[in-house]
Amino acid sequence: MKTIDVNVTSVYQTVSADQIKALDAEAAKCLETVDKATGPGNDFLGWVTLPTDTPESLLDEIQQTAAKLQKSCEYVVCIGIGGSYLGAKAVIEALSDSFAAYKNADGNPKVLFAGQNIGEDYMWELMDLLNDKKFGIIVISKSGTTTEPAIAFRLLKEMLERKVGKKDAAELIVAITDAKKGALRQLATEEGYKTFVIADNVGGRYSVLSPVGLLPIAVAGYDIKALVKGAADMEALTVAPGEQNPAQLYAQTRNALYRAGKKIEILANYCPKLHYFGEWWKQLYGETEGKDGKAIFPASVDLTTDLHSMGQWIQDGERTVFETVLTLAKQDHEVIVPTDNDNLDGLNFLAGKRIDEVNKMAELGTRIAHVDGGVPNIVITIPALTEEYIGQLIYFFEKACGISGYMLGVNPFNQPGVEAYKKNMFALLAKPGYEKETEAMHQRLAQK
Ligand code: PA5
Repeated sequence: MKTIDVNVTSVYQTVSADQIKALDAEAAKCLETVDKATGPGNDFLGWVTLPTDTPESLLDEIQQTAAKLQKSCEYVVCIGIGGSYLGAKAVIEALSDSFAAYKNADGNPKVLFAGQNIGEDYMWELMDLLNDKKFGIIVISKSGTTTEPAIAFRLLKEMLERKVGKKDAAELIVAITDAKKGALRQLATEEGYKTFVIADNVGGRYSVLSPVGLLPIAVAGYDIKALVKGAADMEALTVAPGEQNPAQLYAQTRNALYRAGKKIEILANYCPKLHYFGEWWKQLYGETEGKDGKAIFPASVDLTTDLHSMGQWIQDGERTVFETVLTLAKQDHEVIVPTDNDNLDGLNFLAGKRIDEVNKMAELGTRIAHVDGGVPNIVITIPALTEEYIGQLIYFFEKACGISGYMLGVNPFNQPGVEAYKKNMFALLAKPGYEKETEAMHQRLAQK
């Protein structure tokens, strides 16, 4: 079985192989804490065996639901935020034609996203697009009470009901939420929507391999069985402790770097389709580790694009940064640089070469320059952008994140900090039940 590969040799200028090895026992213990569910947050470890625990029958049911939406919809709007949004978006972007939005190639509905922001123009423009289109809705909220998706759902549900009638609208809406709790569960039961459950023991940011990610990915036309198989292969590879365990190796190396003063990790890709993978990764690591006044700050860049914006900073700025580079071994298509008789742009030295060769040399040159400039590099090679390898990559990062969070000494599976903005927003919007906070907020703002 071919797998993604993790290479940490380009960090040795900052932390030696021996320094990383010195963390073997600690990392192995944290791996065991994840696998045996003995640490803080252990009631949120359902994702650890999710790939192997997911029954074929559930995957079939998801595919059947997707097929129904595919048949009746030109567009399917996936409503959700955070962990109820980023995984599906990342996988669909990674597997899609970059210009799918402008092509009608595959006959599957286009998957759009809403409820991941509160942009008024975004919502207006989305509804304007959908006005004369056949559309369906997948609404995802584990808690069933999150404001951003709830607003988007209220608007789109009303619009769909107006277009096709309440009864037919109910056939075009799928809800993914808690088995029993929350407003969305109650509404889904009352309206008779098809539903899928987000298990209690799977947190939002670890939920892409559950129906949360799998249904939108299936609607977009991708093979969810291959995705889950890739993840299951990685699940098997990340059980035994040791440096052959890629998740342990990555967790251990990034913690060694953090302890050596590298406080910022930049996930760099050289493939535009991986932009949203970086967004998903930032949520996974940011929400898992950023607490108790600690943690590596997860950032991401798209290269070579951002070499023309962030390149200066990475090469020359404060030396508190390391990079994790996602390198893609194989492109799906070939494009050759043509010869030009006049050669006014001076590019004939590239004539006959593939664009990917140029990209690979840009990547290698950048990696060498960054390492020489004091930016250690961890390199993760993805053999190709297929469902199977993406499944591997997702599970690899999830497992490493759990191990790394325990190495850092935090509860990797809560997110208490996310509540602070909600409290203030509800106070400012005078939500019933927040009267005291509203009053305090008014007084505070009046003093300024
Ligand atoms: O990872 C998390 O738990 C969060 O990012 C949630 O996914 C996000 O806040 C959305 O929550 P919900 O699915 O309850 O609407």
